[in-house]
Parts: sequence; structure tokens; C-alpha cells
Amino acid sequence: MCGIVAYIGKKEAYPIIIKGLQRLEYRGYDSAGIALLDNGELNVYKKQGKVSMLSNYAETQNTKGNSGIGHTRWATHGLPNDVNSHPHTSTNGDISVIHNGIIENYAPIKAELISRGYTFQSETDTEVLVHLIDDALKQEKVNLSEAVRLALQNVVGAYAIVVISKDYPNQLVAARKSSPLVVGIGSEGDFYLASDATPIIEYTKQVVYLNDEEIAIVDLNEGLKIINIANQEKTAYVQELEMHLEALEKGGYEHFMLKEIHEQPRSIRDCFRGRLNVEEGWVALGGIKDYEQKLLNAQRLIMIACGTSWHACLVGEYLIEDLARINVEVEYASEFRYRNPIINENDIVIALSQSGETADTMAALTLAKSKGATILGICNVVGSSISRITDAGSYTHAGPEIGVASTKAFTAQVTVLTLLALRLAYKKGTITRKKFQSIIQELDAIPEKVQRILEKDKMIEEIAAVYKDSKNALYLGRGSSFPVALEGALKLKEISYIHAEGYPAAEMKHGPIALIDEEIPVFVIATKGTSYEKVVSNIQEVKARKGKIIAIVTEGDTQVKEIADHVIEIPDTDENLVPLLATIPLQLLSYHISVMRGCNVDQPRNLAKSVTVE
Ligand code: AGP
Ligand code: GLU
Repeated sequence: MCGIVAYIGKKEAYPIIIKGLQRLEYRGYDSAGIALLDNGELNVYKKQGKVSMLSNYAETQNTKGNSGIGHTRWATHGLPNDVNSHPHTSTNGDISVIHNGIIENYAPIKAELISRGYTFQSETDTEVLVHLIDDALKQEKVNLSEAVRLALQNVVGAYAIVVISKDYPNQLVAARKSSPLVVGIGSEGDFYLASDATPIIEYTKQVVYLNDEEIAIVDLNEGLKIINIANQEKTAYVQELEMHLEALEKGGYEHFMLKEIHEQPRSIRDCFRGRLNVEEGWVALGGIKDYEQKLLNAQRLIMIACGTSWHACLVGEYLIEDLARINVEVEYASEFRYRNPIINENDIVIALSQSGETADTMAALTLAKSKGATILGICNVVGSSISRITDAGSYTHAGPEIGVASTKAFTAQVTVLTLLALRLAYKKGTITRKKFQSIIQELDAIPEKVQRILEKDKMIEEIAAVYKDSKNALYLGRGSSFPVALEGALKLKEISYIHAEGYPAAEMKHGPIALIDEEIPVFVIATKGTSYEKVVSNIQEVKARKGKIIAIVTEGDTQVKEIADHVIEIPDTDENLVPLLATIPLQLLSYHISVMRGCNVDQPRNLAKSVTVE
């Protein structure tokens, strides 16, 4: 992962790069660094820790210059210290490089370079790149962009890089393979480069997304030129960004996560736009229209993802199987790829990803594509790698999600999958017209019901205060509430560092029940529906062992209220739509517990928003 940003033009580069790094900090926050070119001097500053540590230091130094590169790191090779921070610089101090990704064959390259007299400062894989470029410049007597191209021919792995050189003050050279890179075209002949569009948005809306194995040369005299690793010239496809700056700010909330939780009534509604019409009684997903017949004929669908997105796939499995009667298999992308899966041309593989950059998911999709399967994507980030390699897809339209813990992206994913299940069910005739109409009516009411749950925030905060010091927690649910339990447990784990497990409620008796004592909070989704009575029995089992029950129940429930320690009521809805509501209180509980424990809510330790390494 990690974030990279660069600028070349007439403006001062430093403020643009620092601000950009702050926007990209969600991608990694082990260390940050910057290289600025000022009057023939390449000034490099690097600091372990957050971007603010870097800026505190850099601002005591010379931060002048009209071109520069910056990096915020999520360490893969070498400790997160000052030396291993990017940029990495050639021995003579002439060239600096920032890199996002992993150079898989760095060890033999490093050994070879050392045998030829190169010395290394850091333990990173990245440092081989700068010496390889330096070496190509010297040995082959070529210009900077050609040296970058030759250097990249030697490397195996993933990279997005930007190179700056004292000898080429009017130029930056960037390249990508498997890691994202966007070029922003400024209005004054200037250029911006970044891992995603967020650092660019306030300066220009004209962007070019680089493709794999492409090299972009941005030159103040000659403009933008794109070639590929094989040295063929490519046409730059300029796109207009649709993102708005306000979407990237906290908007008065204390944390991005809280803002994003509260945005859900709007983000779910945005996801409906043009796809749901209750009056006319239809649901449509324009992005995958061309593949609809194939979906309807499919014997099975394979859904792949990681983390929270994988939980959304599980909800999708319940929905699609129940409503559209199509067999669905859900796989962790990382496992799918390495277990020699059986896939052929008739298969449809659907990838879910907020970032659209997750390396495991990308790799699994590439494998499926190579076997001839149709690959579809459900992504949040517009223009992301997954959205571009897939045959077709549907965006979740949740808007930028900055908090590392996914919240609104999850509910938007579940919304798209609900629409997909309903569309397929309608077309296949696997549900009656009456049932279809009643579900879409309920679906349309979800944003307002989410809002009503958000209004219970104070009460949820009080419950959080009771359990903030717990060491362990269990989350139980049945049917499509089982993945909600998994998601609740993941949310608590990742932002409050409390050990938590999600289980299908009925599985508790097969092992986890041994954990129950008077200390452990057990969060149970016990809304009305098919398994309600069974879940009530599971709650009794916990109570009989003195466990603490926090139950999410349907408004008006009386049975669970009598036995649970706390209940959080959510509005009644169709059973298929419960995940969209039951998730909300679990997000708020985790959020408040994390805040009370003094954890970094938006940037939990060891994590990053976009996991672009396998
Ligand atoms: C979510 O809270 C997590 N931080 C993480 O599990 C995430 O969902 C996972 O890394 C997948 O990311 P993606 O949706 O961007 O592919
Ligand atoms: N592999 C490089 C490092 O460890 C870059 C990691 C990243 O993409 O953040 O420094």
C-alpha cells in the first residue's frame, strides 16, 4: 500500500505534497518523506511516524522548490524507521524515488548491485530501484525516462513509482504495475501525480489513470507523454473527475469513521439512484446490463473479496440464493487464487472491493479472467484498478471512505447486492410480483430507518461505556445476520484491539460456549424472523452461564428484552434487509469503544485502507 504524491509546475511543491500526503495517510502511516528540487539541490526529509512528524521537521528546513515527490509508507520490507522511509536516493544524491508496492526479486538484484560496488542505506526492497536507474543512466548513457524503463525491465513485482532527478529539473518520470497511479493535468502546464485522485481534486479535474506497465513522463516543456515498458507510445486518455472536495473533509465530525457512519442514509440512497423505482415497480443495474442474460443463465456465481467486503459477499450469498435461486460460492480472494480453483468460460466471478485496489482480489480476478470466466466488479472507488480490469460492474457510490474501518462502503455493497438479487429474482420469476413490490418498498424505506437508528447514538454510547474494558467479545447471528456478526466482530477488533469472534448463533454450543463467563459481552442479532425462537434459546444458553447479552431486536420486542442485559431496537423490515439495519448499531458500538479506549479510530495500528500487497 502506501501513498505517493508528486508535483511539478510553477507553484511551490511543498504545501501541495504535504496536503496530498495527509489525504493519502489512510493508505499507510508508518513513516513519511519528501524530496524537493530547489535550484539544483535535491533536499530529502524523512521521518518515522505520521505526516505531521514530517511536516514539523521539514518546516525547520528549506522547503522551497517547484517540483517534488512525497510518500507515506506502510512498511513491507524493513522496519518503519527514518532510514527505511521513502524517498530513496542514489549514492551521488542526484536521483530520488518513491515506491508503492513490492519488488519481489529485490534480493538477487541487490546482491548483484552490491557486487558491483553499490552501497545500500536501507533494508527496503525499493532501494534497488534507485540504484538500477542510476546504473542504467551511467552504463547505457540514456536519458532519465529510458533509464527508468530499462530499470523496470529487471524487476518482478508491483510498483507505482515517481522519479525525480537533479539533472532533469523540468521532468518527473512515473510508472505503474499493479499499484495505482493517477496523473493530474493542471491548468498552468503543471502536473500532479498521486496514488488516487484525492490529493489532486482541489487543483484539477482532468486526470489520466495510468495502465499497467505504462510510464508517464511529465515535462514542463513537452507536456505529458506515455510509453509502455516495451517502448511503444500510448495515448493519454483524459478523464474528468466527479469527486468533490467536501467529501474528503471531516465536516464537523470528530473522526472520519463517525462521519461515514452518519452518512449512510445518504450513501444508501445514492446507491439507489437510477436503479430503484418503487412507483413503477422496477430495479435495474445499468452497469451490468450486458451481462444480465449470462447471470440469469448461470449455474453458479463465485464471489471473491477480502475483509469487510468478504462479509458483504456472504450477505449477497444469502440474498441471491434465497431470492434468485442461483447457487453462490463465496471465497476469500487470497485463498481462491492459490488453491487451483475450478473455473471455466461459463463461470461468472464477482469481485467486491471498496478501494478497487486490493492486491489479493486483483490477483484472483486476473486468474479467473485467464481461465475465460466473465469477471464483474462491485467497487466504490471510481476508476480503480478492479473497476478497470473487470468486464463490467456496478459502483457502490458511497463517496470517498477515509476511515480505515469500512462502514458506509459495506452498507453500499450490501445495497448493490440486494438490488442485484432482486433484479435477477424478478427476471427469473423466482419471487412473486407481490413479494418483489413489497421488498422494494421496504428497501426504499431503509435510509430513513438507518437514520432512526443513528438517532440512538447516545444510548449506544452508554452501552459501549459498560463494555469498553472487555478482553473478549462474541457476536452471534443467524441467516444473513451471521455475516453481520462477523462484520461486528471485525469492526471491534480492528479499531479497539479487543479480541472478538463472530459465529452463527447455533454454532456457539459446538465450542465457543466454553468462553462464556460473567465477563464476556455477547452481541446477538435477535431480530424477528425465521430463526428468532432459536436465537432466543441461544441467548438463554448464554444467560445460564452468566454471560452478558447485548441484543439487537426489532422494535416492540418483548421476549428478548426480558432476558438481555441491554437491547437496541431497530425498525422492523423485510427479513432480507435486516443486515442493512443491524450493522449500524454494531458500527457505533465499536466506534465508541475505540474512542473510550483512546485508540486511533481512523488509522488503527498495523492497518491501511488499501491493501495493495499480497
Ligand atoms: C475493513 O474495515 C477492513 N479495513 C478491511 O478488512 C477491508 O475491508 C479489506 O482490506 C478489503 O478492502 P477492499 O474492500 O478495499 O478490497
Ligand atoms: N515495499 C516498500 C517498502 O517496504 C513500499 C511499501 C508500500 O507500498 O508501502 O518500503
